[in-house]
Amino acid sequence: MFTQLLDNFLVQNKFCSKRSAKNFVLKNKVCVNGTIEKNYKANINPEHDEIFVNEKKVENQKHIYLMMNKPIGYVCSTVSDRSKTVYELLENLKNENQNEFEKLHTIGRLDKDTEGLLLFTTDGNFSNFITRKENQIKKTYYVELENSVDKKNQLLYKEKFAKGIFLPDEKKAKSFTTLPAKLNWISENSCNLTIEEGKFHQVRRMFLAMNNKVSFLKRVAIGKLNLDESLQKGNYRKLTDEEKKLLIQE
Ligand code: URA
Repeated sequence: MFTQLLDNFLVQNKFCSKRSAKNFVLKNKVCVNGTIEKNYKANINPEHDEIFVNEKKVENQKHIYLMMNKPIGYVCSTVSDRSKTVYELLENLKNENQNEFEKLHTIGRLDKDTEGLLLFTTDGNFSNFITRKENQIKKTYYVELENSVDKKNQLLYKEKFAKGIFLPDEKKAKSFTTLPAKLNWISENSCNLTIEEGKFHQVRRMFLAMNNKVSFLKRVAIGKLNLDESLQKGNYRKLTDEEKKLLIQE
């Protein structure tokens, strides 16, 4: 279940700063589900717990959660001299609410040449939960390859990826051995690959390590949440409550 520290909740709802949270909790009457809480680091569930501060119920500030069908050609950074950024695709939202727009960030990233499922939120706790290694939230990619792979070699790829494959240094990235990944072949040059980590250029590097080259890459799922294929490339929409739950259930 998705939880949050009490101090973060109080800061988010503008009761105090992070530094003064400890004092705030000691000096004020903060109740969680009817019980006075004096531990500013207590775990709370902002969706289900009832929080009162000095007898007044706190209506938790609503966060934004979006899914985008990212097109190729856009980078995930907030600014770039050379490329268009995914934030330029959120212009409508920016015009509606500049304040919230400034708090939006992507949950993980996709390369400029990758398309598909990209999540945005204003909720730092939520994005930390999704990206935290221990939570093992998997990402699934649809991959097309330059070189066809026959049945015998398909098995070899599958086995190597299932064991974890060593990836040598690449410009910005250190060498490492991947965690076990699941490969499902669709044809001789297309497959779905599910990985746990999200290291720099990971999918491309995995196939490069097999002397092949990715010619098309699309993220189709994060955990149990699939890309809504009815979303046009470059479009986005809010996640439903069910979809949010799918992400944190795994
Ligand atoms: N792996 C890659 O190589 N690129 C991406 O964008 C995502 C995963």
